[in-house]
Amino acid sequence: MARILVTQKLVAGGDTRLRASGHEVVQRNDDGPMPAADLIAASDQFDAIVCLLSDRISAQVLHETTTLKVVGNVAVGVDNIDREAAAAAGVTIVNTPGVLDAATADIALLLMLSTRRGASAAEADLRAGRWAGWSLGDHLGQDLTGATVGLVGYGRIGQAVARRLEGFDATVLHHTRSDTGLSGWTASLLGLAARSDVLSIHVPSSADTHHLIDGEVLAALPSGAVVINTARGPVLDEEALADALFAGRIAGAGLDVFDGEPHVNPRLLEAPGCTLLPHIGSATVAVRRAMCDLACAGVLAVLAGETPANIVAP
Ligand code: GLV
Repeated sequence: MARILVTQKLVAGGDTRLRASGHEVVQRNDDGPMPAADLIAASDQFDAIVCLLSDRISAQVLHETTTLKVVGNVAVGVDNIDREAAAAAGVTIVNTPGVLDAATADIALLLMLSTRRGASAAEADLRAGRWAGWSLGDHLGQDLTGATVGLVGYGRIGQAVARRLEGFDATVLHHTRSDTGLSGWTASLLGLAARSDVLSIHVPSSADTHHLIDGEVLAALPSGAVVINTARGPVLDEEALADALFAGRIAGAGLDVFDGEPHVNPRLLEAPGCTLLPHIGSATVAVRRAMCDLACAGVLAVLAGETPANIVAP
């Protein structure tokens, strides 16, 4: 029998498989990310940890463990886990690919529509009592229909976004480092930006993608473009984004993720044309349950000596 730590509360039904496994499951009762010192202490007492993306599984946790075999991250992004340290310690990481693609792509579309049409500012006017009645010239946005959308990254979520955009008669381009061989591939990121009315980020966060969307890329966008981020905050240089928004060089940004969450750069809170969401890309009842279940299934499979499909490559 293995000992499994669950660092934060999972959604109802998400841990059924874990509970039925016959392993000892220790559920932490406090809300919020598990403090570093507690994780370090736990790393010597448990065979497996099921954690959320807000828990930081640092090199220290992984270097000092003598018992840990697997970490199950209830997220597809694993930037909260030190992957090199996990590989060095022989700790397997499993995540939740696939089950959240549609929900996250839906939120990307929501942010595209909201920012192109200025929905957040329009709603704020209504709520503040500033709406004096229907007017021909007020709250004019830009169409998503017929726009050119540049996708930075073209994995499962990027492709799900592209499929949805077919319904908007959009021209969809994508940029990845190597040629996908698919229609719309654009070799140069700056070239992609120069053509994009909407630039949408779909790459994981890593040292390679840190501030991939920087001032130079933002400056290449056509005037009036919008930037969408449903991937990870650090991929986008938020200071450069705020500069571009305040200068009126771009029309808006739709952000579901932030650098240093839950902190939000105060300039973005004030910047014009923004729709800001608290990282809800995968937040539907069914998807969050499926994510919990997939992470738990991966953990149980690794403990059973199997090689589940959701192992993250070291
Ligand atoms: C959510 O952001 C995830 O990575 O699963």
